[in-house]
Amino acid sequence: MNDQLTIDGQPAEMLVRYVASLIDQGIIGSARCTQTTGSTNQDALEEWRSDRAFALPRLHVTETQTAGRGRRGRTWLRGERSLAFSVMLDLIDGDDARASDTNVGSLSLAVGVGAAEALEFFSSPSPIGLKWPNDICIQTADGSLKKLGGILIEAVSQRAGSVVVGIGVNLTRPPSIQQGFPAVSLGELTTKDVRDEEVLAAVVQSVIESVAEWKSDAKSLLTRFRKRCLLTGREITLRQLNEQTRERAFVGVCHGIAEDGSLRIMNQSTMRQFHTGEISDVRIRRHDG
Ligand code: BTN
Repeated sequence: MNDQLTIDGQPAEMLVRYVASLIDQGIIGSARCTQTTGSTNQDALEEWRSDRAFALPRLHVTETQTAGRGRRGRTWLRGERSLAFSVMLDLIDGDDARASDTNVGSLSLAVGVGAAEALEFFSSPSPIGLKWPNDICIQTADGSLKKLGGILIEAVSQRAGSVVVGIGVNLTRPPSIQQGFPAVSLGELTTKDVRDEEVLAAVVQSVIESVAEWKSDAKSLLTRFRKRCLLTGREITLRQLNEQTRERAFVGVCHGIAEDGSLRIMNQSTMRQFHTGEISDVRIRRHDG
């Protein structure tokens, strides 16, 4: 067995094989594969704090995640079968500080693009879209959005260089969501037999490639995000917490993504750009008169 691979418990043999193959192909440097864990993001962060002697990118993948973390301190619920993994990445290669100069805000867009492109291979002909900043969604026939997967990026140090990119994808029977956008699973989008380890390997590879491209040419990643943006041209509500953790809501028509990765919203002839926030409503634009 590969000495860059740690196994905890008894994860499925096929999963272990695919992860070992990602290491053998040089796509990732090392991995930890668990049968069950609380949160792969948490595992990656804790490990990094206690021991940094592993080769990056480092993958943490689990068969069953019991306390998945979502954005804004929420819990990430799992469905019947779902993917849960995190990749520890160093954004600065050797002495090359270009990545740190690049707007790190747009990194999450690059991760979304990588994940969506890989997932579309399995969902095709159903297109996979992105809801800024990085929710993996589909648009249903009536124009409403459903969430297929989520991305949680956490910095591991003050230095902008190291991050944990956590991704969750519903594979079959998604969880029922009380608040927010309803969930959908990959299995509902295709008649193909979706194998967990194949989806995992494809998404991991695509996300790592996408981040590598983002480092050298962030603009081309933005173009690919814009093609998948499910908000452009629609009336949306963006919610933000201020310093007193009071919520402010901005309603307007989305004018797409700016060069720095921020979201452009027009309200009463005023264009505003948002670097952070959560989209809570997406409506087909009203036509006045
Ligand atoms: C969101 O949409 O709120 C982000 C969800 C991110 C979930 C993934 S599952 C793997 C990784 N480990 C976690 O605890 N969270 C991320």
